[in-house]
Amino acid sequence: MCGIVGYIGKNPALPILFSGLERLEYRGYDSFGFCVLDDDKVDYFCKEKGKISDQCHIKDSHSIGNVGIAHTRWATTGMVTKENAHPHSNQDKDIFVVHNGIIENYKELKEKLISEGYAFASETDTEVLAHLIDKYFKGNLEDAVVEAIKEVRGTYGLAAVSTKDPNKIVAARMSSPLLIGVNGDEFIIASDPSAIITRTRQIIHLDDNEIAVLTDEDFTISKIEKETRCLNVTNKEIEMIEWDIEQAEKGGYEHFMLKEIMEEPNVIEDAIRGRINIEQANAKLGGLDSIQERLRGINNIVLVGCGTAYYACKVAEYMFEEYAGISARSDIGSEYRYRKTIMSKDTAGLFVSQSGETADTLAALREMKEKGILTIGVTNVVGSNQARETDAGVYTRSGPEIAVASTKAFIGQLTTLALMTVYLGRQRDMSHVMGERIINEISNLPELAEEILALKDDIKVIAEKYSHYRDFWFIGRKYNSAIALEGALKLKEVSYIHAEGTAGGELKHGPLALIDENCPTVAICPSDSVYEKMLSNIEEVKARKGKIIAIATKGNEEIRKIADDVIYIPKTLEMLTPILSVIPLHLFSYYVASALGRDIDKPKNLAKSVTVE
Ligand code: AGP
Repeated sequence: MCGIVGYIGKNPALPILFSGLERLEYRGYDSFGFCVLDDDKVDYFCKEKGKISDQCHIKDSHSIGNVGIAHTRWATTGMVTKENAHPHSNQDKDIFVVHNGIIENYKELKEKLISEGYAFASETDTEVLAHLIDKYFKGNLEDAVVEAIKEVRGTYGLAAVSTKDPNKIVAARMSSPLLIGVNGDEFIIASDPSAIITRTRQIIHLDDNEIAVLTDEDFTISKIEKETRCLNVTNKEIEMIEWDIEQAEKGGYEHFMLKEIMEEPNVIEDAIRGRINIEQANAKLGGLDSIQERLRGINNIVLVGCGTAYYACKVAEYMFEEYAGISARSDIGSEYRYRKTIMSKDTAGLFVSQSGETADTLAALREMKEKGILTIGVTNVVGSNQARETDAGVYTRSGPEIAVASTKAFIGQLTTLALMTVYLGRQRDMSHVMGERIINEISNLPELAEEILALKDDIKVIAEKYSHYRDFWFIGRKYNSAIALEGALKLKEVSYIHAEGTAGGELKHGPLALIDENCPTVAICPSDSVYEKMLSNIEEVKARKGKIIAIATKGNEEIRKIADDVIYIPKTLEMLTPILSVIPLHLFSYYVASALGRDIDKPKNLAKSVTVE
């Protein structure tokens, strides 16, 4: 997500802020900005689209101010424009704020502020913070920040400065990481340790509901409890960061891939944040508002993606048919673009892409637009070509995915597609009861995903046990047939082991010829409508001396009698099992590749975004 850096001390702030943002470049961003104060005056302010490294002149700008905040934006609300870059300010341009997170109720806050006479300069949710702080400002910045965040629903890591209450930075946290670097009589606030460790390794993590006030002499941290701020929290320990810079960028994990797998519960939370309407038993997908009525007339959906994104399309086929009552089929971008497709006018195209820049998917999108077909996008990157060229769409909000192997983005895609299933279903025959049931089950997924991640050490043992094999099969049925394909792709992509996925029922039509004691099979067999069929497939493999690693539903003891190893996932709705069943496969492929010493984040011959045919 976004990157935040703030500095207050005896030195000019701008060069320190600039190098802090440079350290955050790895996170990916689309725009950036700085605000530096010299006592009660704005000493430097700029916001730009693009890369910091293209604007090195900023570092050499003449600026003596010793207090400042800076930001790299990974757009979630509002397009990629200079106006939407942070810092955002109030109308009088004497209060400035940078923010990381999602303000769920920003639309209603914005409407209320506009009705009270506030004028907005951007499309972002963050700007409401600047105007709320202005609204409650009575001479003390931190008091105004406390009043402002009481009105906010959602997540934030924020830092604010003001010429009206100079020589201080106020920072507050709710879910989005914020930490304070302590370096003698200078203090740095940042969203990520990698922006701090070039100045100091002494850090303090802010916790949720905490607010910090930094001056050039000291800092205080207070807990915001419900209506009022309680006494200062003094029991915060200073921690020493032992990591080097590269480790800091990975949050202490050895690879981005593992860091991103561990972020998967948060990705689900961010994908559903502000998008659930329990009263209506429906999903709120603002990105589809403009085509909401056109969608009522859609009876067919053609989904298009590549690689992992294509497997998300295949899962969604089942979701849309079984729960939304819409005929659905999916196609690989590189195939669709050359087919002579028969598309009735009540068909919509749905394009899934993490990057929003995959050439084959974009080509299929443009082909469908040529035919006047309604086009919908599911992507992670605001302002990407796909985001701009589809008629409407929904962002997965998965944050920057650095590893070439797509993991958390896939989870974000599946979660977003599950929400779309409810949205489309409730336009059709899906009952309030079913809508509510699915919505509630989706809301439970982050906790269930955490349960699976807690098994990572056990999964590591299983992965190492099987890391010497040179061939694997992955099998699954219905919702998990695509997860078999995804599991095989993940394994081959990062470990270079030959792996293939197939629907369980297909084994007897050929793949069984390859099964023997040298070719283990991963069987994705949750307790669902096709579990018994999967048991038969497992027996087929066992009859040929094939080893079985089963992904099964917690509590299923029967599977232990026939599988060589079992990884359990919590029970959930059948249509949501892929969101859980894929997590052990992400970890399995990671740990096999780790055991083999592979270049996990940058596998040979592969690119993160395939922008060529
Ligand atoms: C998945 O691990 C691969 N990196 C690759 O298959 C990827 O999913 C595919 O290239 C599509 O990328 P996109 O989601 O950015 O369109």
